[in-house]
Parts: sequence; structure tokens; C-alpha cells
Amino acid sequence: MSGHFDAMIVGGGAAGLMCALTAGHRGKRVLVVEHANRVGKKILMSGGGRCNFTNTGATPANYLSANPHFCKSALARYTPWHFIDMVERHGIAYHEKELGQLFCDESSKLIVKMLLDECAAAGVRVETACSIERLGHGDSDDARFRLHTTRGNFSAPSLVIASGGLSIPSMGASGFGYELARNFGHAVLPTRAGLVPLTLSGKHQAPLADLAGVALPVTARCNNASFSNYLLVTHRGVSGPAILQISSFWQPGDDLRLDLLPGQDALGTLQQWQRDRPAAELKTMLGEVMPKRFAQRLCEHWLPNRPMKQYNAPQLREIAERLRDWSLVASGTEGYRTAEVTLGGVDTDELSSSTMQSRRVPGLYFIGEVVDVTGWLGGYNFQWAWASGHAAGNAV
Ligand code: FDA
Repeated sequence: MSGHFDAMIVGGGAAGLMCALTAGHRGKRVLVVEHANRVGKKILMSGGGRCNFTNTGATPANYLSANPHFCKSALARYTPWHFIDMVERHGIAYHEKELGQLFCDESSKLIVKMLLDECAAAGVRVETACSIERLGHGDSDDARFRLHTTRGNFSAPSLVIASGGLSIPSMGASGFGYELARNFGHAVLPTRAGLVPLTLSGKHQAPLADLAGVALPVTARCNNASFSNYLLVTHRGVSGPAILQISSFWQPGDDLRLDLLPGQDALGTLQQWQRDRPAAELKTMLGEVMPKRFAQRLCEHWLPNRPMKQYNAPQLREIAERLRDWSLVASGTEGYRTAEVTLGGVDTDELSSSTMQSRRVPGLYFIGEVVDVTGWLGGYNFQWAWASGHAAGNAV
């Protein structure tokens, strides 16, 4: 099999399919090369099977990148409302869970079907189980890029790299995009797992080890970032939305602090307990505002437990301070095996922010997670995939 196209897209994930349907609707002949046996595997598993497909509050401030301005143009030109419009045209029912996060009512499968239906309507050719054996790059404007694959040889003047990040290797993730970028002289910023559970070890893990499954609201702070949401104790450490969010800002050795009474005046609360329930022990009172087992463990290992009336003012202040600014000493992360995203990636310095085209290699584009733009938890990563895919799809 062989063929000539206007654009070849490597990766049939969120960004690749969006790029394909956008270019296809412009009348371009488009080929999507996907090495997995089906497209959109991460979309299928996302949002617990219901795909948190966008966030209505997405702004550039919700993204991490060495150049925080890079994502602005694409996000402004393809907003959550553009994607919602497509979802509605396809009759897919959705709801807002919290904080602007939109999920399918039924299944993520509907999002993949929608993208594939749009691709089919736009005449896009999708080759799955198709592995690239060799990439040729020449001077001829018309066939600048030649892909030799297990399903034939293909050529095009434009090549879009939408091969994603390194998270969840079992879903088809590969370092292909980073390697290709380096081969073409692009800088690739160091990659690491993001939106990932943190691990604890030794004396920092032991007190929490048997509390797996316990969840409580916290505010997690690290490196000037702060997220208020739930913390979940796991068998190996901590997870839950507050921890996943802060994990993208944390690196080994960084100071990570938790407010265990978020939104409350800790000292005022303790003083009120002292006045109203002088005979009650601290662990009993804490057990009324957080899971009892967690309160008990706090008082066994980190806080002195006594009847409230026995604390003097400096001691109350000290306890309030520890509750407000509890140090969580993480040893590492669960890594790419469970991470939702990969931080770092192809340096945006040598990409056009309006088209995603390489400034080094005409006709070469990078979109989606392979680029050094990483969103917070909550639909922001798909919004980047749609927006960057749309930008490149309009340019190829
Ligand atoms: P994506 O990973 O989607 O696609 C890349 C594609 O390239 C894959 O199909 C892969 O098989 C293919 N590929 C790789 N190497 C190749 C090669 N050499 N040749 C051919 N093909 C190749 N985000 C969000 O906004 N809301 C959510 O609910 C979730 N939920 C979620 C759950 C889980 C478990 C994970 C792991 C991730 C999420 N995310 C998320 C993140 C989101 O899935 C992710 O940011 C986007 O899928 C990125 O889109 P891309 O198209 O860039 O990569």
C-alpha cells in the first residue's frame, strides 16, 4: 500500500484526531498513523470512563510550561465552547461535575466515536496497528516527509507529531515524539510524571500505612502553587485530586505543606473547642471535622493529645500552626505507570504558537502532550489537545 497526502499525523489520540478532522474539513487529504490497535485509548480510559473532555474555565493560567505565554494563542482560538458545540451537535449528553469540569453522562466511547465520525465525514484515512519503520525527509516540497510503515509507504509535505507523552505505557505511550524532535535538532525539556500519586517511605509512611482509603479535604501547597480538594491515603502514599494537582509542581526534596483544616481559622476553632468542650480530648474534637482514624493517627504521631482545657495559649497556637502547615515528606511519585500526564517535552521556543509548526523544519508540527504544555487536573489537558490540534489542522 502507498499513498500521497497533504498531511500525515503520527498519533491517533486526542490532538491527532482533532488535527485530522480540522484539516480534513478544509479539504486536505489527511492520513493518521496510529501504532496501537485502536485510536483514542486514553480518551476511552479518561475521567473514569466518562471523559472529562474540557473545562469551561480553562485559561492559560491553568497550564505549566517553560514559556507560559505559548499556549495563549491556540487556547484563545479554540475555546471549550467550540468543543462543547461539537459535542452538542453529536447529541452527546454531558454534565458539569465541579469547578467547570465537563463529563459525558454515558461514556468516553461517544467522544472517540464523535471524533472518528468527523474524520470519516472529512475523508480522513486512519491506519491503526501501523508502526513507523523509517522516516525519510527530503527537499521536494511536495513529498518532504516519507513514512515507511508496516502498512505501506506514505508521503506528504506536512508531518504532524501527535504521539503524546510517556504516561501509561500500556496504552501505547512512547518516546517517539521526543526522539524525533531531537533528531530534527529541537530541544526537548526534561520530562517527568505529572498528575501522579506521591509515595511516602519509612517513618513518613508508617503512621499512614493502614489508613489506605481514608480521604479528607486539604489545601496542598508547594512552590507557590496551592490546591484545595481531597487527599486520599493510598497503600504507598497519598493521592486524590489535591495531591495529583500539586504533584505537577513538586520535585523530590521540595517542601510540600498541607492545611488540614482548609477554609477554617485553626486557632479560632481550637479556642472555641476549649471553651465549649473543655473535657473533650483533641483527637475527639478533630475527629468531628476530619475522618476519626486520621485524627487519631495525627494525635498519636504529630500532635500532643490531651483534654482541651489542659493546653495553654502557646500550645494551642503551636497545634493550630501544625494543622495549618503540616509538612508532608514525599519520597517520590508513582511514575509514568499511573501518571495522567508528562511534564516537559518539546521546547516551545522553536515552535510557532499560532500554528505549532517547527521554526527549524518547514512542514513539521508538534501538538498535544508531546509539547512542553501541561494542564492541571480537570479537563485542561484535553482542551490543550483540542486547541493545539485545531491550530495545526488549520495550518497544514
Ligand atoms: P494521546 O496520548 O491521547 O495520543 C497519542 C497517540 O499516539 C496514542 O494513541 C499513541 O498510541 C500514539 N502513538 C505514540 N507513539 C506512536 C508511534 N510511534 N507511532 C504511532 N502512534 C503512536 N485529560 C483530561 O483533560 N481529562 C481527563 O479526564 C483525563 N483523564 C485521563 C486519565 C488517564 C488515566 C490518563 C493517562 C490521562 C488522562 N488525561 C485526561 C490526560 C489526557 O489523556 C492527555 O493529556 C491527552 O490524551 C493528550 O492527547 P495527545 O493526543 O497529545 O496524546
